Amino acid sequence: MENSKNFKVNQPFIMVIFGATGDLAKNKLIPALFSMFKNGMLPDKFFIIGFSRRNLSDEHFRGYFTQESKDPGWEDFTKHLFYQDGSFEDDKGYLELSEKLKVIDSQIGACVTRFYYLATPPDYDEAILDSLVKTKLSEGCGYPSEDFGKGSWTRIVIEKPFGKDLETARSLDKKLGEIFDERQIFRVDHYLGKETVQNMLAFRFANGIFEPVWNKNFIDHVQITFAEKGGIGNRGRFFDGVGELRDIAQNHLMQLLAAVAMESPKSFTKEDLRDARAKVIASLRCDQKDSVVKGQYQGYLNEENVSSDSQTETFVAMKLFVDTPKFEGVPFYVRAGKDMPEHVIEISVVFIQTCHILFKEYGCPEIGNVITFRIQPDEGINLRFIAKTPGVKLGLDSVDMKFNYKESFGTRGLEAYEKILLDIFFGDQMLFSRSDELESSWRLITDILRNWEEEKTPIKTYTRGSWGVKEADALIEKDGRKWLI
Ligand code: BG6
Repeated sequence: MENSKNFKVNQPFIMVIFGATGDLAKNKLIPALFSMFKNGMLPDKFFIIGFSRRNLSDEHFRGYFTQESKDPGWEDFTKHLFYQDGSFEDDKGYLELSEKLKVIDSQIGACVTRFYYLATPPDYDEAILDSLVKTKLSEGCGYPSEDFGKGSWTRIVIEKPFGKDLETARSLDKKLGEIFDERQIFRVDHYLGKETVQNMLAFRFANGIFEPVWNKNFIDHVQITFAEKGGIGNRGRFFDGVGELRDIAQNHLMQLLAAVAMESPKSFTKEDLRDARAKVIASLRCDQKDSVVKGQYQGYLNEENVSSDSQTETFVAMKLFVDTPKFEGVPFYVRAGKDMPEHVIEISVVFIQTCHILFKEYGCPEIGNVITFRIQPDEGINLRFIAKTPGVKLGLDSVDMKFNYKESFGTRGLEAYEKILLDIFFGDQMLFSRSDELESSWRLITDILRNWEEEKTPIKTYTRGSWGVKEADALIEKDGRKWLI
């Protein structure tokens, strides 16, 4: 990609990936790093050290990423991959890692910039942080100086879910704050790095024509669908006990919702943007009763590493409100599920239907204007409006005006994890969650979790490859609306 070449990381770095044999490293992090390597965005000297429990040699670790191995350039890339085995709770692996880092420092002749990437389930995060402190790995190249960001630095990256509920998220955040300066902490929600999510802000705030109608006077409701085709595959160890509410709703859905409902930030700068997102999430309300449904796809209990009586939800749908003057009373229907009929992640802003005012007798389509942000696949934006059908008599139908990223720009842009990694290298925290955003979203999600527990809400099953439990349809249909997909 042409313009990404301007973003070459120009100093040597070490990236330690905790949980390096997990799904995230395999499917997202290593492919993103490899793509950056091929596009000339990485420096000549960089070291990626995988840290995991399995006993692997560097060679074995390199052979772990079979999907990339046929690509020319892969072999050169793998020269930058190393491995350290160790238990997350035991100092031994960390001390050995520390020795490896010292060897790299002495090869380069300086303390090398480093970051620790916790691609681990939330249960391990605190133990890893404790061990980093105990073995002094957290000190890295020293604490930030006045000219923070210049010279060598140490950063800590925490993948979502950040904690398992409000209490654990607070405790994790407290610990992080005790060890690192806020400018060293990167709380990842990779949906913030998606081109289309960033583009929503450009769409809303760079164009003068949409913002005047972006409020409760014109918007009837908003729908967000986060549907993934296929079940959890081999991710049972991570997913079981976590569930869709924590895996998707607490983070990705909240951020998508914030992009729709935020006020214009004071400026396009890190803290103003985070303030605007945080305000939306803090204003979210869910009237528990009849507003949340959950489900589990049939056959989930037979998935690998899933407990045979698991109550973990693979589908969740909610009706939420954003209690701000702009959106007061506008329902946000959101749903997320595994093993859905299609892979589609989409936001639809549905406007109040006015067609009937003049054209009542001419057969107004059920839905009038809808702006749809397609996050994936086929990233783009769609505007649905009503047009006269051809012919002598007046007839009306819905038509679409489409913008597709690939067609317009010849590229889909950067993969979310490439953007996320670049921002970590450059120290830009704008697309990373701040504590208050997480605190508010966990408050909402924890209330739902608590309610499920107190009410002993049973889990209902849905057919694989369907749109989830039928109660999700009822959730929106009882308000006289229906899901658009
Ligand atoms: C992750 C979730 O954060 O996002 C996964 O843990 C989900 O369950 C994934 O599949 C979806 O991300 P993407 O970028 O593939 O749409």
